[in-house]
Amino acid sequence: MNIRIATNQDSDDIKRVYLSTFPKGESEIVAKIAIELLSENTTPQTISLIAETDHSVVGHIAFSPVKIDHNEDCQAYIFAPLAVQANYQKHGIGSTLIKYGMQQLSAMGVNIVFVYGDPNYYERFGFNADAARNYITPYNLQYPSGWQAIVLNEYAMEKVPVAINCVASLCDPKLW
Ligand SMILES: CC(C)(COP(=O)(O)OP(=O)(O)OC[C@H]1O[C@@H](n2cnc3c(N)ncnc32)[C@H](O)[C@@H]1OP(=O)(O)O)[C@@H](O)C(=O)NCCC(=O)NCCS
Repeated sequence: MNIRIATNQDSDDIKRVYLSTFPKGESEIVAKIAIELLSENTTPQTISLIAETDHSVVGHIAFSPVKIDHNEDCQAYIFAPLAVQANYQKHGIGSTLIKYGMQQLSAMGVNIVFVYGDPNYYERFGFNADAARNYITPYNLQYPSGWQAIVLNEYAMEKVPVAINCVASLCDPKLW
């Protein structure tokens, strides 16, 4: 398996992975977001990665920056979405994409990374709800227990709740 930075030329392959992985109805929304994130022009950069096996795209993940209200010193990211093609799941591809991205972010000095998803999966990477508790998402969460974070580089964590702001592609209430 090879991991590389995704470009706009990978859009069709990324779309195929999401359409075949998420339930119908949800899959179109998530595929659209994954493709829009390829064109997010942010500082710091939005990073989209794909996993390839036998020259075919079988997995994708995107990491985009998050702004924390009243705290410009804290570098934060969120990762979403993530998918691995069904017939390639349970071979460690999802874990490799997450760990590869987190290593890049850690080297960049990123302090905290958020994720919104199944705690049973993300806790194995060190994500936990406690670390995310004081960060208020842009929309109300359908599954509050899915809001988690991991601290990569220590900093003065928020002691009172603060709002966070995501890139435009993730500003869709249906995602949250
Ligand atoms: C979640 C997903 C990306 C994992 O990819 P993957 O390549 O299969 O992951 P890995 O091989 O690294 O890890 C597989 C392990 O995670 C477990 N796992 C996968 N999804 C899980 C979940 N929602 N809750 C708990 N465990 C989960 C598998 O059972 C497997 O366990 P094992 O190691 O004990 O056998 C993939 O299952 C997927 O694309 N699912 C559909 C889309 C999705 O849910 N995306 C995440 C949105 S938050």
